[in-house]
Amino acid sequence: MAVTILAIESSCDDTSVAVIRDGCVLSNLIASQAIHMSYGGVVPELASRAHQANIVPVTHEAIIKAGIIMTDINAVAFTRGPGLLGSLLVGTSFAKGFALSLEIPLIEVNHLQAHVLAHFILEKEKETRLPSFPFLCLLVSGGHTRIIVMKSHLEMEVIGNTIDDAAGEAFDKCGKVMGFSYPAGPLIDKLSGDGNKNAFRFAKPSVKGLDFSFSGLKTSFLYFLRDRLKEDPDFIEKNIPDLCASLQYVIVSILIGKLTKAATLTGIREIGIAGGVSANSGLRSGMEEEAIRRNWNLFIPELRYTTDNAAMIGITGYYKYLRGEFSGHEITPLARY
Ligand code: KG4
Ligand code: ZN
Repeated sequence: MAVTILAIESSCDDTSVAVIRDGCVLSNLIASQAIHMSYGGVVPELASRAHQANIVPVTHEAIIKAGIIMTDINAVAFTRGPGLLGSLLVGTSFAKGFALSLEIPLIEVNHLQAHVLAHFILEKEKETRLPSFPFLCLLVSGGHTRIIVMKSHLEMEVIGNTIDDAAGEAFDKCGKVMGFSYPAGPLIDKLSGDGNKNAFRFAKPSVKGLDFSFSGLKTSFLYFLRDRLKEDPDFIEKNIPDLCASLQYVIVSILIGKLTKAATLTGIREIGIAGGVSANSGLRSGMEEEAIRRNWNLFIPELRYTTDNAAMIGITGYYKYLRGEFSGHEITPLARY
């Protein structure tokens, strides 16, 4: 019998609902919250209110688009954390109510595990290349930067982590200094296309092992601009593409440098990237070059599965369903998982 999962993602500022059948996406809808743009970051209270307004219509549409009826659903998977507590509460409460009303199991999902499992999402009438285990994955999102060894679908070991800011935060915070709205990562990526990546040099931090640090880069970027603005108040406007390209280049070099080190240390050649920053064109092309040089079997997710989406929650829920890993209704969301 087919296994149909309804998946809910509400950890940050996107309300997303997907329907997954036997690991294959039937629908994956995302309502993004533009309201945060002018605030320079996600405002938690506004985010949870928008989730409340969006969750019922987005679920309704996801079910219709999937071409199923409610009673076809075998289980409800939801993001338990990490994320903003108020936002997670909306998804968790909705998932509980939905599961209770249909008397079907509830499955909690770790958002970070789901980003990595996005590599296992299947599409209708499309061949998907799947990684084999062990799979080495760089997870780069707005809140996390980790190197993970995946031993099976649900077994993961973190072998590298950021000691301060995440890579996405470095993009967003440096973008804010240049006057960009939140999230700045996609805009920096776009503007980099017209810039010279060697125009300005920003120092790479020296962090031992497989760990990362991005807070020093953010500070040196800020001081660099402050000094140049003293000489020329229009420095930023005159140099935006070069600033973006140089900044993106150093962030991508740090990420690829550590991932390459991890590949050498573990001897793993099945390599992937995941999370919002894996949408970055510089990181994607840099990884492709590195893969050719080092003979890696490389996995780069489709753009729609890099940033937050419920399909990745659904695929994780599917593998948990197969193992009978269900949650009780006393479950509460976790800001830190
Ligand atoms: O995974 P995600 O959607 O949410 C979290 O779980 O955090 O990641 C969001 C992050 C933001 O920091 C955003 O600026 C960054 O991903 N991002 C990008 C790009 N697209 C999204 N950063 C650089 N280049 C991009 N194209
Ligand atoms: Zn995420």
